[in-house]
Amino acid sequence: MNSFMSWVGGKKALREAITMRLPSDCDRYVEVFGGGGWVLFYKSPSKFEVYNDFNPNLANLYRCVRDYPEELCKELTYTLNSRTDFDHVRKTISSKTVIPDIKRAAYFYQLIRESYASGLDSFGAQPHSMWRNFPLIHQAAKRLQTVVVENKDFAKLIAQYDRPNTIFYLDPPYYETEDYYEDVGFTEKDHVRLRDALVNIKGKFLLSYNDCPEIRELYSMPGIMIESTTRLSNIAQRYDAGKQYPELLISNYDTYEEGVLTRQLTLFDEYDENEKILKERKIIWKSIAN
Ligand SMILES: C[S@@+](CC[C@H](N)C(=O)[O-])C[C@H]1O[C@@H](n2cnc3c(N)ncnc32)[C@H](O)[C@@H]1O
Repeated sequence: MNSFMSWVGGKKALREAITMRLPSDCDRYVEVFGGGGWVLFYKSPSKFEVYNDFNPNLANLYRCVRDYPEELCKELTYTLNSRTDFDHVRKTISSKTVIPDIKRAAYFYQLIRESYASGLDSFGAQPHSMWRNFPLIHQAAKRLQTVVVENKDFAKLIAQYDRPNTIFYLDPPYYETEDYYEDVGFTEKDHVRLRDALVNIKGKFLLSYNDCPEIRELYSMPGIMIESTTRLSNIAQRYDAGKQYPELLISNYDTYEEGVLTRQLTLFDEYDENEKILKERKIIWKSIAN
């Protein structure tokens, strides 16, 4: 299913490629940099699941969607898609004013829906009916019923949920776009801090990143596999249809051997499309003991 919201850096275009590489033997799924949760909503549910984001407004929105979808939709019913209203909401939510959780969630959702490219800061001036989002919010509420929502820094979250049967999916702010995300203070040094938090975990991880020399170098180490792939660039579609954006998929397990897709291939002989995808994979680093 789709997420109920778009988000800067959302993985809509890459969600299938990511999902098919998740290991088939981990029943604890932890999405560390949750954002719009495009992979979480797309994959089939695991026994235990966590959605985390360090942005407190985002974590509050997810909790309200999960626990109070009706009340949230009610709060959103009379929002006005207008620049004046947008500026007022943006100012209020960024101030120190105490706002009840459901109202805060409604304000934040309004900013996501009505800002330019979901960037939260400038009014998008696009025709949009909030009411059309209500079914999406209700579907998301059903999907999130058993999902734990956390609002922690990645290092604390990883330490807390690490077990041999945990798969962490991580989609951090990309290298040199750290300042795209408000309220979280992610900096260049955090890329190294993230690598250090991941190297010795007991569980497995799959990480998506922009393809650049700095990140290739950071993860070219024993126990790691790096694959390069591309996705359609959402923003570039507006002026350059078909433009591809290079990405890296980094893991501490062999996604060919252990990925859900490989398992499906042997189980159901689903060749054709799936086999093509497997053949086209480009491994650029692999140092994993088999
Ligand atoms: C690229 S976005 C994730 C997009 C998501 N995968 C999707 O499909 O929408 C990165 C997210 O990381 C969050 N973030 C930034 N610093 C963080 C930190 N220290 N710990 C946890 N989350 C953080 C940001 O708030 C942002 O939502």
